[in-house]
Amino acid sequence: MPSTTDDTATTDHTATDPAVAEPADRPEDIAAAMQTPAFRRDPYPLYARMRRTCPVYRSPQGIWYLTRYADVETALSDPRLSNDRDRMTRALSARDGGMRGLSRLIGRLGRIMTNTDPPEHARLRKLVNKAFTARRVEGLRDRIQMAVDELVRYDPPTQVIIRVAADDLPVGGEILRTGDLVYLVLAATNRDPDRFTDPDRLDLMRRGNRHLSFGNGPHFCLGAPPARLEAEPAIGTLVRKLPTLRLDDTRALEWRPNPLQRRLRALPLAY
Ligand code: HEM
Repeated sequence: MPSTTDDTATTDHTATDPAVAEPADRPEDIAAAMQTPAFRRDPYPLYARMRRTCPVYRSPQGIWYLTRYADVETALSDPRLSNDRDRMTRALSARDGGMRGLSRLIGRLGRIMTNTDPPEHARLRKLVNKAFTARRVEGLRDRIQMAVDELVRYDPPTQVIIRVAADDLPVGGEILRTGDLVYLVLAATNRDPDRFTDPDRLDLMRRGNRHLSFGNGPHFCLGAPPARLEAEPAIGTLVRKLPTLRLDDTRALEWRPNPLQRRLRALPLAY
């Protein structure tokens, strides 16, 4: 995409101008807001607030949350933020109570590519890449791809990815210390007005849609090309076979409680 079509917003600086910044929220208030049903239904108002008042937020449990596009984009390519499973398990098990489930889960992931750092990561990635390049086809249908990208920008299934600081590093006026857990809130960066024009609008024709829903840097999602491609026949077939398909708005949508993965318990449909 040529840079002239980049969707970088340059006009709205209210979000970052300290002269008009809102007072910082207390960490415990942010943490409490994350536990509410309202956050589960729609996390984006809280993410907007965090971007404005505490873009590098340290939770009462000592976990950092990064919500600005620029910070997360940089963080995703910073080798000091490790994706190594062993480091992460150590960082998680050093915390109390509530984190034990997550620690066990990451422990079980085993030695897979997503949770390794370079150079081991590069070796594994090369092997897997071969399988994916074979699936790539010529002549992607641009508009469908744009629509799929906008949907995954607007409400990504992977809301947060986790890193652990392998070294001390400064981010946005704070210092992340070795061993600290860092949540990169992809979903919040996708609505950053410093990066996207009118970010809360679903615009299926959005240009230069460089969202972070598939990650960035060395761990960029290998499934992104097939995910984009497969959405087209999948959605096309559904609409052809069931032309009256619609959301069953007589039933409430219920989201699973996992704040890292945004998933519905069920998608109630009518046709
Ligand atoms: C809409 C669908 C998808 C989304 C939103 C998504 C999102 C992501 C994200 C955010 C990452 C980066 C993880 C990190 O940096 O820690 C990632 C990595 C990855 N994804 Fe996906 N993904 C999707 C579909 C798929 C599919 C369909 C596949 C497989 C067929 C896949 C395979 C992978 C693999 C193997 C990695 C690890 C790459 C690496 O560590 O180098 N993804 N994905």
